Formats: sequence, structure tokens, C-alpha cells
Amino acid sequence: MDWRWVGLKALAHALALLPLALLVQGVLQDSLGADPVAALTHGTGDWALRLLLLGLALTPLRRLTGQSWPIRFRRLVGLYAFFYACLHLTVFLVLDLGGYWTQIFEDIVKRPYITVGFAAWLLLVPLALTSTKGWMRRLGRRWARLHTLVYAIGVLGVLHFLWLVKSDLREPLVYAGVLALLLGLRLWWRLRRPRLQAPARGA
Ligand code: HEM
Repeated sequence: MDWRWVGLKALAHALALLPLALLVQGVLQDSLGADPVAALTHGTGDWALRLLLLGLALTPLRRLTGQSWPIRFRRLVGLYAFFYACLHLTVFLVLDLGGYWTQIFEDIVKRPYITVGFAAWLLLVPLALTSTKGWMRRLGRRWARLHTLVYAIGVLGVLHFLWLVKSDLREPLVYAGVLALLLGLRLWWRLRRPRLQAPARGA
């Protein structure tokens, strides 16, 4: 057993759970401000998006550093992004809609930012379910193709934030910039990749 690796993983879990711990502490100490439901919705939404972008940053980080360790955190980070997205949806259903859960279908139809947020969450579900080694093996090359959905989820997540903000666009634009950089890097590398030459006939 590599104890250094176990320690690093434990640290990553602790760091990923820290925002949740701070939100729970805020609830218990009644220190989330005048609108605790909004604070919980924003806190969980922010962390879902931040972790999603962090997950997208790990592949470029491996390429830029030449180290393989960032990839070993990809599943953990992605699953925590899904975990915060689920908390975010739960807060909305339970605390915002106050139990009138079917109202969400009306919201999905009438409020475009909810439509887009819900689509992002829905697309995260198959990625979370197939994130195990078993599913990776079973799906083979299709696994990688399925998991390219994460790019669309990033775009939907940023769009959701841009759409719901009424005046100050600065924060969602920072996320949009980070996403553009991460997707742009991938595109750049893909375009520069030398194409495989088809072998000459008869060779
Ligand atoms: C599951 C369906 C979703 C619903 C119903 C939903 C709903 C909401 C609502 C009601 C707000 C607060 C709007 C306001 O203050 O006016 C919000 C904010 C936000 N949501 Fe979602 N959301 C969903 C999915 C997602 C997903 C998947 C992500 C991330 C990938 C996300 C990221 C955010 C962010 C970043 C904010 C803004 C937080 C801030 O203002 O600091 N949401 N969402």
C-alpha cells in the first residue's frame, strides 16, 4: 500500500467536503445571512461549477507538467462536482420549492436558466454512474466518447450562471473565461496533433 497516495486522497476528500462543512456550520450557527436558502443554493451551485472546472483542468495539467498524478484525481473531483450539483438540486426542491416538487417541471419549461441547469445535472448522471473501472472496461472506447459530454456540461453550467445573473456579470464571466481556456487548450492540441498518414497502396 502506498501510504503517501492514501494520505493525498484523504486530503483531497477533506478539501472537497470543506465547503459543505462550512455551509452546515453556517446553518447551525445561523450565520448565512438574511436569506440562508439563497446562500445554500449559491454555495452548492458555486462548488458544483468550480469542481467541474477543476476536473476539466486536470488533463491539461498532466500535459503541461508531464506528471500523471492529476489524472488520478479526475474521478474523485468529478464525483464531488456531481455531489454538489445533487445538493444544489435538493436545496432547490426542498427549501426553495418547499415540497411543491412538480413545480420544477413548470420552472424547467418557463425559466431558461433552470432548463439549462437541469440539463447539465441530467447529463452528469450517466457520467457519475459510469465512472467506475468496471464501466470503463465494459464500454471500452465508447467510455471516452460518452465522457466528452463533460464539455457540454461545462458550457451548460456556465450558461446557467450567466442566465440567472441579473446585473453584475463579472463572476460568471470569470468561469466562462476559465472554461474557454480549458476547452481552447484541448482544441489547440487536437488541431496540432499530426494526422496519421494512410499507408500507401501496396506498401
Ligand atoms: C439540477 C438543476 C438545477 C437547478 C434547479 C438549479 C437552480 C438554481 C437556482 C434557483 C439558483 C439561484 C438563482 C438565483 O439566485 O436567482 C442557481 C444558482 C446557481 N447554480 Fe444552479 N441549478 C441547477 C443545476 C446546476 C448545475 C448542474 C450547476 C453547475 C454545474 C449549477 C451552478 C449554479 C451556480 C454557479 C449558481 C450561481 C451561484 C451564485 O450566484 O454564486 N446549477 N441554480
